[in-house]
Amino acid sequence: MSREITKSPKGIAAASAGASQAPALDFGRAWDYAPALEGVSHIKLQPRYGLFIGGAFRAPRSDKYFATVNPSNEQVLSEVAEANAADVDDAVRAARLAYEKYWSKMRGAERAKYLFRIARALQEKARDFAIVETMDGGKPIKESRDFDVPMAAAHFFYHAGWADKLDYAFQGRRARPLGVAGQIIPWNFPLLMAAWKIAPALACGNTVVLKPAETTPLTALLLAQLIEEAELPPGVVNIITGAGETGAALVNHADVNKIAFTGSTEVGKRIQASLAGTGKRLTLELGGKAANVVFADAPMDQAVEGIINGIYFNQGHVCCAGSRLLVEESAHDTLVRRLRDRIATMRVGDPLDKNTDVGAINSKMQLDRIRELVDAGEREGATRYSAPCALPSKGYWFAPTFFTGVAQSSRIAREEIFGPVLSVLTFRTPDEALEKANNTMYGLSAGVWTDKGAKIFWMAERLKAGVVWGNTFNKFDPSSPFGGYKESGFGREGGRQGLAAYVELDG
Ligand code: NAI
Ligand code: MG
Repeated sequence: MSREITKSPKGIAAASAGASQAPALDFGRAWDYAPALEGVSHIKLQPRYGLFIGGAFRAPRSDKYFATVNPSNEQVLSEVAEANAADVDDAVRAARLAYEKYWSKMRGAERAKYLFRIARALQEKARDFAIVETMDGGKPIKESRDFDVPMAAAHFFYHAGWADKLDYAFQGRRARPLGVAGQIIPWNFPLLMAAWKIAPALACGNTVVLKPAETTPLTALLLAQLIEEAELPPGVVNIITGAGETGAALVNHADVNKIAFTGSTEVGKRIQASLAGTGKRLTLELGGKAANVVFADAPMDQAVEGIINGIYFNQGHVCCAGSRLLVEESAHDTLVRRLRDRIATMRVGDPLDKNTDVGAINSKMQLDRIRELVDAGEREGATRYSAPCALPSKGYWFAPTFFTGVAQSSRIAREEIFGPVLSVLTFRTPDEALEKANNTMYGLSAGVWTDKGAKIFWMAERLKAGVVWGNTFNKFDPSSPFGGYKESGFGREGGRQGLAAYVELDG
């Protein structure tokens, strides 16, 4: 691109048009919406939450608590328990007892009723769940309201349907549950990841100990309350809070039959190493560096929206985010111009405002990581463009950003940034696009944009990614299996394939 990038006095990069060019359209200032804040006065969070073990909340043996904050204003929302090894042991014992006493003996049709009950209760309380998700994690209310919470309910509905049909899921082979599943989830989709993990485990007859991430524990704790109200047999679902040490204690507990983990590749590798030789089953859903491949014959307006959705959705805190844009060289300048104009219109700010497109970064730690990688991108010579938006003074924020002129070898093309930062690269032939797209240690997802259906199929067959979207991006359904290749992990979640991770097959 020939446009220069300059730093404004505030340190936010802004595009300045060259003298011979038309000035950049500044849609961002053309109009303003009146604030439309979601009301929160009815939300009653407890000042402190204990551990949900054996069907009831109780204080941790550790006697320790830690705060969870709202990343958009740094206010403490509540304190949650820090489970130690003894607490983890209690939770696993409760899950084992519930497995033996109730859940493994219960007919599938009965288990299904409980799953349906959870799904319906989630729908009834959808608004409160969405608000708390947004307060605890920083994501825009329109996403938690329209995506996270409805999808979480959909996963319970979908798996409720399987609970009494498992004999038909594996072509005549009989499916038996594994026992106790230890499940560790990240902070990017807290409630949805809890649903992804709990619903198939219960449908298949397993009991669960789930640990949410330390920065976003609240919706999992609300889910525990909901499970208590749904009168699941005590101990079928146990929810314990804590950080990495609590997670490690769960992974290494001798009486856990299966571990399901979603999070960083680094921790995933550590878990895999510690489980080697134990006979415990394992599924890992780790990082990604997805290529979103745009051919010159693509419907450009749709492609721009797809790219925006692919990388700025949920502040880029998405393992399958389309964080590498591979654009055919002849379309590069047009596409980059449109992208620049489009991100200038994005509303960054209060996540509880219904107009907000991009919310707060989940934590200070994650913000530091994004900044470090963006600085590396600048040092390595790529050209940065950040939307010229004013960022709130309190809280953790990062303006939607993209880099052009990115080398394949640079850190911003190789490492997961997990923030609203896109790296733009070019290609000339489908073969080159494919080679660059697959040139990563990850393989979770990819996108292809073109007018030619045959080109989509040709690419999809050859892309080493668990999910390939054609002329769309970031679309999910509980019936569609999701999971990675290479260092993005193994095992699938969702669909019939996802059930396989929670059963032993006879015959
Ligand atoms: P993380 O992998 O440390 O955290 C994920 C979960 O694992 C949390 O519940 C955490 O408490 C738990 N955990 C941490 N250490 C553990 C251990 N030794 N044993 C068992 N459980 C453990 O991820 P973190 O530090 O929050 O984020 C770092 C980077 O990881 C991000 O910048 C992003 O690139 C990537 N990430 C990828 C995610 C994905 O969906 N694939 C989700 C979150 C982060
Ligand atoms: Mg929080």
